[in-house]
Amino acid sequence: MSTSRLCVPVATGAVAAEAADLVNQLAAEGHLSAEAAQRRDREVANELAATGTYRQSAEELLLGSRIAWRNNPQCIGKFYWKGLEVRDCREVGGAGGDEGALFEALVEHLRLAWNGGRVRLLLSVFASSEPGRPGPRVWNGQLIRYAGYRRTDGSVQGDPDSVRLTEAVRQLGWRARGTEYDVLPLVIQWPGREPRWFDLPPDAVPEVRISHPDYPWFERLGLRWHAFPTISDQILELGGLRYPLAPFSAWYTCTEIGARNLSDTNRYDKLPEIARGMGLDTGRDRTLWRDRALLELTAAVLHSYDEAGVSIIDHHFATKQFVRHEEREHKSGRRCPADWSAIVPATSGSTTPIWQRRYDATRIHPNFAPQPVPWTSGGAGD
Ligand code: ARG
Repeated sequence: MSTSRLCVPVATGAVAAEAADLVNQLAAEGHLSAEAAQRRDREVANELAATGTYRQSAEELLLGSRIAWRNNPQCIGKFYWKGLEVRDCREVGGAGGDEGALFEALVEHLRLAWNGGRVRLLLSVFASSEPGRPGPRVWNGQLIRYAGYRRTDGSVQGDPDSVRLTEAVRQLGWRARGTEYDVLPLVIQWPGREPRWFDLPPDAVPEVRISHPDYPWFERLGLRWHAFPTISDQILELGGLRYPLAPFSAWYTCTEIGARNLSDTNRYDKLPEIARGMGLDTGRDRTLWRDRALLELTAAVLHSYDEAGVSIIDHHFATKQFVRHEEREHKSGRRCPADWSAIVPATSGSTTPIWQRRYDATRIHPNFAPQPVPWTSGGAGD
């Protein structure tokens, strides 16, 4: 084994080490016998020496992706890591880079994840980056997101978070409708090829209109949100391979929508309108109009998703599950990497069991990681 490693160039040496690390982890977690692990190590080393890369088995992809999620420090929902389903889309689009085929597979991902409202934990893994041939990407941070248009007075129509992407897709020729909730097209790009954009079919974009259990006027504000998130800009780093397109769907926690997306002052900024509807004095901070409006908005989100039969979790349940997960992990002799500031909910943090706890956010492999946006040459920012 060591003799074949000696001929491996430095770059593939690093890949080999990470690949062996993954195999060891799978063996340590009882998925492979010691002999099978040794055999697999040799096989990977040989394939790397011959081709500069290697192909993961379906099982490595599935189990490794679950571990990558478990290792991710940003996520409060890891209690469910074993329930992650993984679609193997590595061959989609072929070597030639067929954007249309990729688009179809992404739409299919959304339909499968939606599952009639019982949102599934679903990851689709597309082609990995290989030496001299990086894998495909989408420009979108999430498969479903609303456009943001900067007006001449500097204010924004739609989602301010999407202004730069919206400008970039308009430059590609996409025509904006100009509403507050225009779903952005998917922009698909194979390195070295022109990006292509595709509008999502409406049935792949389930949304929920927000109403309040006690305030009939709330519905007239016209608030809505897409049913579930699908992160599409994180790279899956697994066993030395890098998968730049690996969209991940899950259900929402109500605070993500109520206490961030619709309420942040640099997002939809709806609290003043809601507070006015509630008859609160917005002229003085001390009336706590923001806090009250924030709470009612979050309650409205939870109520509306429940009424619509769409999976959503509240932050109390989510944090309790996280603590159970943490305890389970410690019992298994593993660390539970977590970034406190990312997992504490955006509202009522001190009422949840994670508030008092301390976490170690050290990044370990495998994992999901941010990557530079693809539409600027420098790749910096966002
Ligand atoms: N916070 C992001 C959003 O509001 C989604 C992040 C992932 N969230 C999740 N529940 N998996 O769209």
